[in-house]
Amino acid sequence: MIKSLRGMNDILSEDYQRFTYFIDTATKIAQNYGYHFIETPLLEETALFKRSVGESSDIVGKEMYQFIDKGKNDVCLRPEGTAGVVRAFIQKKLDKAGGTHRFFYHGPMFRYERPQKGRLREFHQFGVESFGVDSVYEDATMIMMVADILQTLGIGYKLQLNSLGDNNCMPQYRESLISFLDLHENNICEDCKRRKNTNPIRVLDCKNENCQNLYKDAPKLLNNLCEGCEDDFSALKKILQDNDIEYEIDTNLVRGLDYYSKTAFEFVSDNIGSQSAIAGGGRYDRLVEFLDGRPTPAVGFAMGIERLMELIVMPDTFREGYYIGAMDVEAVDLVVRLAQSKRKTVKTTIDYKAKNLQKHLKAADKANARFCCIIGSNELKDNTIWMKNLEDKTEKTINIGDFK
Ligand code: HAM
Repeated sequence: MIKSLRGMNDILSEDYQRFTYFIDTATKIAQNYGYHFIETPLLEETALFKRSVGESSDIVGKEMYQFIDKGKNDVCLRPEGTAGVVRAFIQKKLDKAGGTHRFFYHGPMFRYERPQKGRLREFHQFGVESFGVDSVYEDATMIMMVADILQTLGIGYKLQLNSLGDNNCMPQYRESLISFLDLHENNICEDCKRRKNTNPIRVLDCKNENCQNLYKDAPKLLNNLCEGCEDDFSALKKILQDNDIEYEIDTNLVRGLDYYSKTAFEFVSDNIGSQSAIAGGGRYDRLVEFLDGRPTPAVGFAMGIERLMELIVMPDTFREGYYIGAMDVEAVDLVVRLAQSKRKTVKTTIDYKAKNLQKHLKAADKANARFCCIIGSNELKDNTIWMKNLEDKTEKTINIGDFK
């Protein structure tokens, strides 16, 4: 028997209800915040991710589904959504148009990671990207949007916050971190030795315990911000406080993607094992320019849908629409016609097989229908239909003419 690939899941039945409930809720909230839907291809040029997510990141360095296609193009399945949205933004010349552009998207992402609970090779993200706003209010609003979505879904969280500085302060900080790493060259792990040369700040979220202990004494990003970044970070904290959003500062939060500057944040949950990040994002003011667009400030986030599906508190199921069935084969044609007309206005499920009443009632219950409507030989003769309201359990027989 052929099975799905390792780390790639089907989403169906009960899972699908959670999945669509999440998408519907997040979509509604993103629209309330003024975001518009965008869809970009699953397959992109590999160079797009090398230049944006960064060659030193694990995502690009180790986890890409990359291949040469029949036209000899170097392509890969997208490991994340931001790069494709930025490419589309530039390709459509929205960078030249100026103004504010806000997008949301959802869909599959692919990372060749070692699968475990909450960590998949094909997973789904819901993300938003905002272009053209350099105010830190936008960063705060974005964080509040994630908090809104999580709260609506009944999901508890912790918010971790950091600033990664900008072109003014980051290069200087990087140098002081390299000097620190040089001093401890013999005590850091092999991965960190490599990171020191490729992207030194990555060492800060090294999982090696020895390195972690050592880095407690490393220079801190937040102590080395320039005035502009410092002011923005203070303003961000104040806006969040004013809006009752609790946060923790994590000076080692560097994110797994290279394009960030200034605000970086992650939402984590204690309830899904070691894969605790349920959403992450930040500001990426240099990326549009880096991908050959006109310099445009930008900020965004993405949420991991599979991880959230574990945590969603589903609302009490409410019954909806009609189930229509026949108890006599002679009535099936009529039942199909009635279902067709009902479907124009309301959800309607149907069974084409003639069955006894008990079986129909069971099927109506499973379909979560509000009304179970049945036509047997008596009803067919009298031109009526029998209906049971599965919520209040009342029953009645009405004329077909009144049913339509
Ligand atoms: P990210 O932190 O790499 O950010 O991913 C966002 C979320 O996707 C994570 O917090 C996690 O919930 C989920 N996720 C990541 N990898 C996996 C996996 N292997 N299995 C299941 N879920 C996973 C980004 O992707 C950025 N593009 C976010 C962003 C948007 N920044 C600015 N705009």
